[in-house]
Amino acid sequence: MEPIRVLIVDDVTNTREDIKRFLYFEEDIEVVGEAGTGEEAVELAQSIKPDVILMDINLPGMDGIAASEIISVEVPEAAIIIISIQGEQEYLKKAMAAGARDYLVKPFTSTDLAETVRRANAFTRKRHLHLVGREEKRGARERALPGKTITLFSTKGGLGKTTLACNLAVALAGETGKNVVLVDLDLQGGDVSVMLNLTATHTISDLVQEELEKDVTVTDTFLAAHFSGIKVLCAPASPEQAELVMPQHVTKIINYLKTTFDFVIVDTAPSYSEINLNVLEITDHILVLVAQDLPTLKHVRSTVEVLGALQYTEKIGLVLNQLRPDGISVKELEKNLGQVMSAVIPTDDKTVLQSVNKGQPFVLGQKTSRVAEKVVELARKMSAEKKAVKPERQVPGIRSIARIFSLSR
Ligand SMILES: Nc1ncnc2c1ncn2[C@@H]1O[C@H](COP(=O)(O)OP(=O)(O)O)[C@@H](O)[C@H]1O
Ligand SMILES: [Mg+2]
Repeated sequence: MEPIRVLIVDDVTNTREDIKRFLYFEEDIEVVGEAGTGEEAVELAQSIKPDVILMDINLPGMDGIAASEIISVEVPEAAIIIISIQGEQEYLKKAMAAGARDYLVKPFTSTDLAETVRRANAFTRKRHLHLVGREEKRGARERALPGKTITLFSTKGGLGKTTLACNLAVALAGETGKNVVLVDLDLQGGDVSVMLNLTATHTISDLVQEELEKDVTVTDTFLAAHFSGIKVLCAPASPEQAELVMPQHVTKIINYLKTTFDFVIVDTAPSYSEINLNVLEITDHILVLVAQDLPTLKHVRSTVEVLGALQYTEKIGLVLNQLRPDGISVKELEKNLGQVMSAVIPTDDKTVLQSVNKGQPFVLGQKTSRVAEKVVELARKMSAEKKAVKPERQVPGIRSIARIFSLSR
């Protein structure tokens, strides 16, 4: 074991000698430097990088507290122990706030001193290892390619976006064994947490409140863990809280999640809100829900045109949900929309209702049902699908929905 390297900071030579004598017989502790002023302490701390610094408060010029403040930032791996005399208690609080790890009040015994040095060192080592581990983990994750984003979209409600988003996310995790996060962007009426039987202790609105101006980091605190292994960023608990979430927040959040998850699945509200437009811009795939009635077909046709005007055609996948024998045929839909279906999901009221009421995705609870099989098939397809490459030609300044519609007409 390497000895604990100690720097002594005190303007009185005799005090430094006393401390050295105290530590002389401790085999695991070695005094590697001495400083008589705060400035000297900062310099030595930077150059010799001690494990522990024994710091006097009263120093000529820069005092021990100011020196601690600088050292705790510039040499965070060094544990600072403040040495004070009786009656300096008021300074101790300041010293701790300045980053000191512990303190000793004179007079103290050699055992007190050695034990405090060991304890402070052990703590700082542990924290340092933890931080390094975390950095390495984050580095490894961020070095990997950004995750694939899949957004479920339709301008009409009730077609099955949320049902499919939940089951697709869980199926993707199960099929690929990779990290999946599901983001509920139906801010006013999101029901992902209900469908997955999750208690949302934190939601996207807490996240934007905490991280309003900073670069967003979505820590696990903000994500609910589902027993299937997927993580969920839940919708706000109330409409007032939903108001706090701005389009630029959503962009930052999704972009961040892409750096830490292999798949980001986004459930949306049925509209061309600014938030949805931002998401559609940065998503890799857009799954547009289709149904077999004329009003829905009209909606979908218009959606395909709008997305085309935004140059997202490559990203679009059509998903016919709730297939029924009496509706417009699949062939006809495909002909009308100029694109074949990426998936055709059967109607299965019993399975879906049971799954919803239990809060358990049918791809887990009713694996052998046709509806589950079809969603798993879609998950496989989406995991294999190449990310669409955005065309070079850009439509300038697309943010006004009126413009998009005039473009698509
Ligand atoms: N394949 C399906 N078979 C039967 N019912 C379904 C199916 N998909 C969705 N549903 C039901 O349709 C309704 C709307 O689904 P939902 O996922 O909430 O739609 P959206 O999120 O698009 O508004 C729900 O009651 C849901 O249980
Ligand atoms: Mg929904």
